[in-house]
Amino acid sequence: MAFTYFFRDTHSVETAIEYLLEYTSGNSSIKIWDAGCASGQEPYSLTILLAEKMSTFMFRNISITATDIDTSDLFEKIIKNGVYPKNELQRIPQELFERYFEESNLPDSYQISYRVRDKIKFTKHNLLSLKEIDSGFHLIVCKNVLLHFQPEERVEVFKMYHRALADNGLLVMEHTQELSDKVSNMFERVVGNIQLYRKI
Ligand SMILES: C[S@@+](CC[C@H](N)C(=O)[O-])C[C@H]1O[C@@H](n2cnc3c(N)ncnc32)[C@H](O)[C@@H]1O
Repeated sequence: MAFTYFFRDTHSVETAIEYLLEYTSGNSSIKIWDAGCASGQEPYSLTILLAEKMSTFMFRNISITATDIDTSDLFEKIIKNGVYPKNELQRIPQELFERYFEESNLPDSYQISYRVRDKIKFTKHNLLSLKEIDSGFHLIVCKNVLLHFQPEERVEVFKMYHRALADNGLLVMEHTQELSDKVSNMFERVVGNIQLYRKI
């Protein structure tokens, strides 16, 4: 599957988590959609960062749906097991590695702890179907995906995200992905230095 890695652009993700936790404070459930998650490194990193920022009690309220077009059919066979070769895990801060990874049965590979794996449901989904997987999401993470789409396709995907988000829900994208002017009445920018938006 496509290029990705653990703890990619942690600054944007940590900032999004900060706003998410403020916005969902007191909620009994927190729903997240990671769209275009490739081979799982992004949603696993996100979930580890959430586990670090939340109490054990609050972390139980999190549910993450991670989707990708998954053309190679890897979700069921490999990715949901959370096993990765050692050489892909070098960027992970040592203390997080020790806390969330354990040796797997495969040579030179480690498995993400059940506590993290249990929070993520991997589902095949084509964003260009323009059908949202569900509604009421508090956060949508969509990074390094929309750049592959035509501008008019991007507008339709933004509208789909707007339908999928809860009132005041958050959308985070990579640094270079601006929101289209055609949907500027549907989202407001939350902070200046990253692509974090709130549904209007
Ligand atoms: C470069 S990866 C980004 C992975 C991760 N979000 C990150 O930032 O590291 C782009 C992903 O978008 C997925 N993708 C491309 N077109 C898609 C579509 N129409 N629907 C869903 N996923 C798609 C690809 O399969 C690929 O896994």
